[in-house]
Amino acid sequence: MEYNRITLAVITKLQAIVGEKYVWTDEEKRIPYGRDEGTFTVPLLPDVVVLPETAEELAAVVALANEAVIPVIPRGTGTGLEGGALVDGRGGILVSTERMNRILEINEEAMYMVVEAGVITETIQKEAGKRGLLYAGDPCSGDSCCIGGNGATNAGGNRAVKYGTTRDQIYALEVVTPTGKIAQLGKRLHKMTAGYPLEKIVVGSEGTLGIITQLTIKLVPLPKATAHVLAVFPSAEQALSLVTALPKAGITPTCLEFMDYDVIEVVGAWLDEKQNCPKGGAYMIIQLDSQSDDGLDDDCVAIDDICHTLGAVEVFMADAEKVWKARKAFTEASAADCPVAAMEDFVVPPDKLLPFMTELKSVGEATGVLFRGVSHAGDGNIHLDLLRKGFTDEADECRRIAAFEDKACEAAYRLGGAISGEHGIGQARKALFEKYTDPVELELMKALKRAWDPKGILNPGKIFD
Ligand code: LAC
Ligand code: ZN
Repeated sequence: MEYNRITLAVITKLQAIVGEKYVWTDEEKRIPYGRDEGTFTVPLLPDVVVLPETAEELAAVVALANEAVIPVIPRGTGTGLEGGALVDGRGGILVSTERMNRILEINEEAMYMVVEAGVITETIQKEAGKRGLLYAGDPCSGDSCCIGGNGATNAGGNRAVKYGTTRDQIYALEVVTPTGKIAQLGKRLHKMTAGYPLEKIVVGSEGTLGIITQLTIKLVPLPKATAHVLAVFPSAEQALSLVTALPKAGITPTCLEFMDYDVIEVVGAWLDEKQNCPKGGAYMIIQLDSQSDDGLDDDCVAIDDICHTLGAVEVFMADAEKVWKARKAFTEASAADCPVAAMEDFVVPPDKLLPFMTELKSVGEATGVLFRGVSHAGDGNIHLDLLRKGFTDEADECRRIAAFEDKACEAAYRLGGAISGEHGIGQARKALFEKYTDPVELELMKALKRAWDPKGILNPGKIFD
């Protein structure tokens, strides 16, 4: 695909669409849009940053780019980790949804909210909370990410065990298509068999099929009772056996998070808080929500029983703030302890998490890569920090990290898993994604992309080439 670069004439047209004030060509203003929060870096800036205020303006920008065959890169608040909202060598127009940040409707009776794409996820959670309702989506970056980006990446987070990922929170979307049309996808219905569920396909398509401008999202009643149980196990293996034991006992925790001994030590040092975990042991953080104290108590008693049967050395009601502070400190604490070369986001069926972790150990030994990780264990999703430690030089690091990623990916797919549970493919993961995805499935995805975006202008070079 041949793309054109931005010309002065295009800039003038962009200014006519969104106003001169919202078309940024100054290098200083473009710099923040040349990075995200991941380890994958592109030493390139978008040619221009455009900030539309409405779906109509955004659609006009995309129509112009489609006509002129110039790439458009959609971006929320830039908290992504895989380079999905960054330009590549093709350059292009970066479209930020940050000015589209209004809550349009909150319906307490029917429990839904209509929001623009740029609303910060935490704002939605708080507005729902004030009305006794819960927006169940809860990515770890909730205080800074926006709901449109959550939709584009199908963000997961800590509550996905009970409530699912962002895709499960969405009734309907307004989307700007790659040719610059505005589409209404999905409806506020509990069932519908009337054609393809296109809203479900746009969610997780990382801005390659459309730019989400508005979302109708589900709300649920705020749980009346919540408990946080911290179970301390002498070994990671014992802790991980909870992943299948809880659902089998009919218990659906809201969160089930795993931290092993190395992580606990690093986080403890970072927070300067003493942790009580035997050497080689592990924590399982179990959050339970219920509409009644009795329901909650029953589950807590059952969990205490199950954990002890599985060999827990300690099971206690934990301070919610304290445990989440420790869990959420992982990324910062780990990076402060040792620079991170790459962050992984593998997902396997929950019952395969233990065999997968055992294989990861062998992969680490075989490739000489040191790593540590936390896991949204209830979802079989694991984040690994591959440490920048023990390499002779940059070439050695690249080679061994690539070998680790390839072998780990092979193991994940062999166990029925995938390369990403919630961070997406972006630019960073596409080679391995192409290598391990079923070829027929991959070709169907590419055919879909060609049908939606014949000129390939929308977020090119993301997910696949
Ligand atoms: C987390 C982010 C990195 O779970 O997904 O901490
Ligand atoms: Zn995560």
